[in-house]
Amino acid sequence: MNRKGIILAGGTGSRLWPITMGVSKQLLPIYDKPMIYYPLSVLMLGGIREIAVITTPEDQSQFQRLMGDGSQWGLRLSWIVQPSPDGLAQAYLLAEDFLDGAPSAMVLGDNIFFGHGLPEALAAADAQTTGGTVFGYRVADPERYGVVAIDAGGNVSAIVEKPEVPPSNYAVTGLYFLDGRAPELAARVTPSARGELEIADLLEIYRAEGTLKVERMGRGYAWLDTGTQASLLEAGNFVRTLEERQGLQVGSPDEIAFRQGWLDRDGFAARAKLFAKSAYGVYLAGILRE
Ligand code: TTP
Repeated sequence: MNRKGIILAGGTGSRLWPITMGVSKQLLPIYDKPMIYYPLSVLMLGGIREIAVITTPEDQSQFQRLMGDGSQWGLRLSWIVQPSPDGLAQAYLLAEDFLDGAPSAMVLGDNIFFGHGLPEALAAADAQTTGGTVFGYRVADPERYGVVAIDAGGNVSAIVEKPEVPPSNYAVTGLYFLDGRAPELAARVTPSARGELEIADLLEIYRAEGTLKVERMGRGYAWLDTGTQASLLEAGNFVRTLEERQGLQVGSPDEIAFRQGWLDRDGFAARAKLFAKSAYGVYLAGILRE
């Protein structure tokens, strides 16, 4: 069964108030594109075309205005509301009908990944049909994150939240590949002390049965946070630096759809024309001339 995608784009964004009192965090710009384009691009690089976007009730219509039904990228987008931000694991309960037994790749709507070899890492995770895969990112300060302990077989032997003595330097990122049992297993998770259905508790079920793997993102990868004013600006500057230096876009769903063959030349040319007045469109037009 083909893997389906989930972008979790609800939440309160309270660390960014007052900015996010009037607009969803995941619609804010990261340099030249809305934030959600970046996690969407990750799923697309993983070959995923059927994707559910989970939003707050208030913000759904704005996301729909931006992304529609996804056909402009050769995708099928479904729209799901999360009535209140009750935790990351709740996404699997909300998406149960959408998934309909399929394995899934869930990405948090405010996580930005960049790196040579990302499509290969995603393909490796996709190839695992039972159990799950998390993506570990090497950080200098693991005590601030959920950290994975990894055994000799590449399985996760523990995930420790904000450890004083970190078992490794690999933080768990906001990208989770789980098998078709995820909604059923998420139903076993009970609310934590802070009242949320924690993704860590769902992952623990997989870990305990010995089927949780980790794909390591090492040198040459960027995993950027966008949750605070400073990190939002830094992420934008990172994207700008890369794009201006290389003349290549990071996180363009239009480019990825075209290169994946999901958009034909005419469809892609129409997108380039639509955006002709922005640098984004000028870039797409350049690809057509390649
Ligand atoms: P967080 O960064 O934990 O929360 P937040 O985005 O609401 O921000 P803040 O801490 O400033 O209040 O969430 C990580 C991602 O998951 C983010 O993209 C929002 C999303 N999310 C949901 O969609 N639903 C939820 O129930 C939670 C907890 C988060």
